Amino acid sequence: MLNFKSNIILAPLAGFTDCAFRKLCSDFGAGLTVTEMVSAKGLHYNNDNTEVLLKTAGETPCAVQIFGSDPDIMAEATTNEKLQKFDVIDINMGCPVPKIVKNGEGSALLNDIKLAEKIITKCVKTSPKPISVKFRIGFKENDDICLDFAKMCEASGAKFITIHGRTREQYYSGKAKFESIFKTAEQVKIPVFANGDITTIDDYNFIMNNSNVYGVAIGRGALGNPAIFSNLLGKSTVNKKQQILMHYNYLKQNFNEHYIFTNFRKHLVYYIDGIKNARSVRSAIFTAQTIEQAINFALNALI
Ligand SMILES: Cc1cc2nc3c(=O)[nH]c(=O)nc-3n(C[C@H](O)[C@H](O)[C@H](O)COP(=O)(O)O)c2cc1C
Repeated sequence: MLNFKSNIILAPLAGFTDCAFRKLCSDFGAGLTVTEMVSAKGLHYNNDNTEVLLKTAGETPCAVQIFGSDPDIMAEATTNEKLQKFDVIDINMGCPVPKIVKNGEGSALLNDIKLAEKIITKCVKTSPKPISVKFRIGFKENDDICLDFAKMCEASGAKFITIHGRTREQYYSGKAKFESIFKTAEQVKIPVFANGDITTIDDYNFIMNNSNVYGVAIGRGALGNPAIFSNLLGKSTVNKKQQILMHYNYLKQNFNEHYIFTNFRKHLVYYIDGIKNARSVRSAIFTAQTIEQAINFALNALI
């Protein structure tokens, strides 16, 4: 069984969960962190843009997430040298983005359980690392393929699964539903992580007290609040200002100025979310000329 640091893991968020953010979440107790999805085809063709996605900063355990629809290319990706520093290889079968779905990748695989099975089986056979799968409860609005899909993942050799309680058609709208995830967790032996809209200790307790899921995956709830992991785990924690400074420090250790300027302002906006004058601080952050200036706008607003 994999050594999760806790049963609250960080869900992958493309454009946000880079190695600096993952390291921060890991420091705060995230049981596992996951890179944003990386194209198996991109790895096959040695694309330059996979480089930044595969950077790590000492966060452990850490999974790399791959996506694709060709079983051979996916299996080949699992043996790629650049992926071997990760503890787990996670397969994306939940991405709802049209460009991805049109290619038969991400959540499109929910409609082709045979192909999904082939991909997982091949990856499990080839991969030197444990394989996990992240998927949604279905494709169409009223689909509920959760249990069948989970059983297939288990039978194909996946070591754990993360299930987002929405269908592809729902995208990110409405509320995540957990009934079918709970039912699934009763019927498979591998750890199940419930995912979707988990942001408070009440959300976490509700899930843990009413099901036998192994844990939860938190995505957007960690934006602007990476200390959510220590909060939910009942550990000592730090305020938003300190979180910003720690985050900036990890960014400086790992990325160049251009990257930080582009990336960190998006995070700063989340850190100040919910404060009284958030709207004007947000526009100040985006019109700042330097990242230090943007950080100061956020820090001063948080006094
Ligand atoms: C901006 C954004 C980027 C995402 N990128 C990924 C991704 O790369 N891989 C993936 O499996 N899920 C991705 N997701 C889905 C999240 O991991 C998660 O399943 C979803 O946001 C629901 O959980 P949450 O309510 O805790 O955020 C993304 C979601 C958002 C909002």
